[in-house]
Amino acid sequence: MLKIAITGGGGLVGSRIIELLNNDFEFISLSQDKMNITNKYQVYQILKEINFDILLHLAAYTNVAKANEEKDLAYKINVKGTENIFEQVLSKKKKIIYISTDFIFDGTNPPYFEDSKPKPAGIYGQTKYQGELIVNPKKYSNSLIVRISYPYKAKFFQKKDFFRTFKTLLEEKKPLKMIINSLMTPTFIDDIAYGLRYLINNFSNDIVHLVGSQSLSPYDAAVLIAEKFNLDKNLISKTTFEEYIKIRPGLPQYSQIKSKKNNFWKMKTFEEGINEIINQLKIKN
Ligand SMILES: NC(=O)c1ccc[n+]([C@@H]2O[C@H](COP(=O)([O-])OP(=O)(O)OC[C@H]3O[C@@H](n4cnc5c(N)ncnc54)[C@H](OP(=O)(O)O)[C@@H]3O)[C@@H](O)[C@H]2O)c1
Repeated sequence: MLKIAITGGGGLVGSRIIELLNNDFEFISLSQDKMNITNKYQVYQILKEINFDILLHLAAYTNVAKANEEKDLAYKINVKGTENIFEQVLSKKKKIIYISTDFIFDGTNPPYFEDSKPKPAGIYGQTKYQGELIVNPKKYSNSLIVRISYPYKAKFFQKKDFFRTFKTLLEEKKPLKMIINSLMTPTFIDDIAYGLRYLINNFSNDIVHLVGSQSLSPYDAAVLIAEKFNLDKNLISKTTFEEYIKIRPGLPQYSQIKSKKNNFWKMKTFEEGINEIINQLKIKN
């Protein structure tokens, strides 16, 4: 069985990957308290000791809005942290899968495929792109970059994904102002996990987008959530991208991200993902 060392295994995406693929791979979870990726010596010491085939690197500074204020911290975690890890992966002659984001594209020239030219809009996207340049699959045959976009799943109490944020606000009967002239590509996290299972078993140095098969406006996404969960649609009003970025800069306008490479796992539309969540919540409750 392949041994997968994973950073960020306690996070929104990583925790579900471990949950779903636990019978396929042996995971060695490197949590922040065990290995702070910004601590070069600690990374060296831990990775020197453990045996793994692939390092699945999800740990990151992920707060997009705050990254513009906490530039140094975002850089330290997303760039230096990735550098520290990759150095050890290289010296052990192991493989790395670096999880990246659609935010490496500024959203002005969609759609974005694996070979589209990155141009990040904000600090978060910039630091994640710098991480991509470090592991660079064109230069290193042991590197694979997997870009994901707006991940969501049934349950995670530690952090709300966009789906849970919208749903909770509607449940609390709070008004929602949603953008009409913008696109997002929601990705069901279970599909990310199963897509990764294929990529781990069929590793090649490449860039692959594991993203939902539908892009829609945040307004349409919120309306769909309201409809599917019988919540009040009248709470949702419209705003424009131009208004929204005044209070939340760094958001790409048209994050329509697609894949030319994924011919191995069928990614769900947002509606299919919500239907699956409804099933999963029924089973769990
Ligand atoms: N969420 C999104 O919307 C989104 C979209 C596209 C791409 N991505 C990418 O997907 C990956 C996973 O995102 P996520 O949303 O699952 O993340 P998340 O829930 O915010 O979790 C981040 C993880 O990184 C770990 N971490 C942060 N700083 C660290 C450090 N200095 N040393 C070691 N570990 C550290 C955290 O550990 P602790 O919990 O111990 O602090 C946590 O497990 C990231 O690489 C992100 O850039 C996310």
